[in-house]
Amino acid sequence: MTAILYTKELCKQFGGVWAVDHANVEIMAKQVRSIIGPNGAGKTTLINVITGRLPATSGSVIFKGEDITRKPVDQRVKLGISRTFQINSIFPGLTVFENVRIAKQAHLGGSLRILSSKRSLKDVNDQTWRILERIQMADKADVIAKNLAHGDQRLLEVGIALAGNPEVLFLDEPTAGMSPAETERVAVLIKGLAQDIAVVLVEHDVDMVMNISDIITVLHQGVVVAEGPPDSIRENDTVKEAYLGKED
Ligand SMILES: Nc1ncnc2c1ncn2[C@@H]1O[C@H](COP(=O)(O)OP(=O)(O)O)[C@@H](O)[C@H]1O
Ligand SMILES: [Mg+2]
Repeated sequence: MTAILYTKELCKQFGGVWAVDHANVEIMAKQVRSIIGPNGAGKTTLINVITGRLPATSGSVIFKGEDITRKPVDQRVKLGISRTFQINSIFPGLTVFENVRIAKQAHLGGSLRILSSKRSLKDVNDQTWRILERIQMADKADVIAKNLAHGDQRLLEVGIALAGNPEVLFLDEPTAGMSPAETERVAVLIKGLAQDIAVVLVEHDVDMVMNISDIITVLHQGVVVAEGPPDSIRENDTVKEAYLGKED
């Protein structure tokens, strides 16, 4: 199996801090890849550099055989790399449906100009409904986003990211602040998404990570210290010491 996206000796330095230190990570299509590690390990920075929000200090990012290390964010999104942010990216005054539709329109913008407006509107609306069904929020289509429960707002962010039709979707702590029931919804959603696309998940909930990941990457001070399926990570001595410390 070849990787859909991989990094080669990827580095990101902030002053003297190596937030990402010669990372080699291979992301396979249709898999759930989790990235775990203590606070400050470099998880968010790794995602920022892969998705183009921050420039790499050195090394490269390869997506479907193409070197995208120097490409701006919007070009990476067009190629099929989407993400959610730890910070809210929704329009609070608009409905759930409008939030996803605007994202969908932004994505289709160019290619739709050749279609008649009636046809294109129907296309956008149909695709918006499909996304709402996928995130199980079709019944909340008319709810103003700011009135949603926290968990639903986070799910809506995933919907907005899905509007870009990604082949690789990065989720940075999607369950932060969620109830156990909401967390379970996200776990089910991620498993479903990974039937079609690669999902890269940064997540603190170790139980969830162990349950839904195909492969886990462990970061510690910017370095990939371990990688493998959940069972091998659970048994890895370096990981136990560096991260899972409390467990045995
Ligand atoms: N914009 C920044 N400027 C300077 N240092 C940063 C910046 N972003 C992250 N860092 C540093 O890089 C390291 C990794 O941070 P981060 O990627 O946020 O870790 P994680 O997401 O694993 O908690 C930390 O030491 C953090 O202080
Ligand atoms: Mg982080």
